[in-house]
Amino acid sequence: MKKVNIAILGIGRIGKIHLKNMLRHFSGVNVVAVADVNFPADEFKKEFRDIFFSSQPADVVSIPEVEAIVICTPTSSHAAMIEMAVKAGKHIFCEKPVDLSLERTRALVEMAKAAGVKLMLGFNRRFDPDFMEARKNIQAGRIGDIQVVKITSRDPGLPPLDYIKNSGGLFMDMAIHDFDMARYMMGKEVKEVYSKGLVLVDKQVADAGDIDTALTTLVFEDGTYAVIDNSRKAIYGYDQRIEIFGNKGMIQVDNNLHNRNIISDANGIHHALPLDFFMDRYAASYLGEMQHFIDALSNNAPLPVTGEDGLKATVIAVAAKKSVAEGRPVLISEIK
Ligand SMILES: NC(=O)c1ccc[n+]([C@@H]2O[C@H](COP(=O)([O-])OP(=O)(O)OC[C@H]3O[C@@H](n4cnc5c(N)ncnc54)[C@H](O)[C@@H]3O)[C@@H](O)[C@H]2O)c1
Repeated sequence: MKKVNIAILGIGRIGKIHLKNMLRHFSGVNVVAVADVNFPADEFKKEFRDIFFSSQPADVVSIPEVEAIVICTPTSSHAAMIEMAVKAGKHIFCEKPVDLSLERTRALVEMAKAAGVKLMLGFNRRFDPDFMEARKNIQAGRIGDIQVVKITSRDPGLPPLDYIKNSGGLFMDMAIHDFDMARYMMGKEVKEVYSKGLVLVDKQVADAGDIDTALTTLVFEDGTYAVIDNSRKAIYGYDQRIEIFGNKGMIQVDNNLHNRNIISDANGIHHALPLDFFMDRYAASYLGEMQHFIDALSNNAPLPVTGEDGLKATVIAVAAKKSVAEGRPVLISEIK
C-alpha cells in the first residue's frame, strides 16, 4: 500500500510526540521532512538521520511529495502555517487552537474548505479510550438523557510565563480542550457561557494578563449544563476527570494512576498519584487522533475533528474570557 508522505512543523513537546508515534506505530506513514526554527539541526540529524530537516517551514511545505502537514509550532504561528499549507494544496493536522482571533480562525477554516484541503484539529482527548467508551455508552442510551456533564481539568503546574503570555490565556490554551469535550459528550451546541476566573497559583500570572483558576458553566441549546473547573496547578498531579449525569444513571471516568495498587493500613486507604501530565495521561489519544488523520488521508474517511469544531470551541473560549471580563453570562450569539 502507498505510504502517506507527511512533514511536521515544530519539534517541541507535542511535535516530538507525533514524530515518534509516526515512526514507531504507523507503517503507512513516511515522515519526509521536519522544520523547526530553533531546534539544532545537528541534534535532530543525530537521532533522525533519514529525515530532511530545515529551520524554515516553507522549505518542507514546498516539497512536492509531501501530502500533509502536521502543525506543532506555537499557537501564534498556526495561522501563517495553515495558510502556507493551504496555498500549497497540502492537507493539515493542526494543534489547537487554529488562531487566537475568531475572524482569522473563520477565514482559515473557509480557506481550507474552498481549497478542498482537509483540516483536522488536535482535540486529542476525544480519542482517549475511556472518554470514547463514555461517549459510546451515552449514545447507546445507558444513562438516559444527559442533564449535566462535569469536567475537572487541572494541570500539575504552571507552564513558563513566556508560554502563558503567548498562549491566548487559560480559556484559549487549556480549557479549550474541555469546551470541545463538553460538546463531544453532549452532542449538542452551547448557547450560553458563564465563567469566573482568579489568580491563586502565582501572582505573576496576573502580570502576564491571565488567570490560573476558573469555573465555567455552559448552557446547551436544550437548557442542560456542563460545569468545568480548571486550575493551572494541582499539587497531586494532572487531574483529569469527567462525570456525566443522566436520568437513567451516571458515568464517571477517574484519573489514570501510576499504578493500580490500593494499600490499606492503619492510617487509611492509599493509592498512587495520577499520571504526571499530558504526555503520559493522553499517550493513547495522540495515537488515536493520528490514526484517524491517516485514515482520512489514505481512505478518504471523514475527519473526526474538523476546522468547524475548532471554531466552535474558540467561540466558547472567547465568550468565557468576555464573561470573566464583564462579570456576566455571555450568549454565544453575542460573539461575532
Ligand atoms: N493537544 C495537546 O495535548 C497539546 C499539548 C501541548 C501543546 N499543544 C499545542 O501545540 C502547540 C505547540 O506546543 P508545545 O508545547 O509543543 O510548544 P513547544 O514550545 O514545546 O514547541 C514548539 C516548537 O516550535 C518551534 N517553532 C517556533 N516557531 C516556529 C516557526 N515559526 N516555525 C517552525 N518552528 C517553530 C520551536 O522552536 C519549538 O521547538 C501549541 O499550539 C499548543 O497549544 C497541544
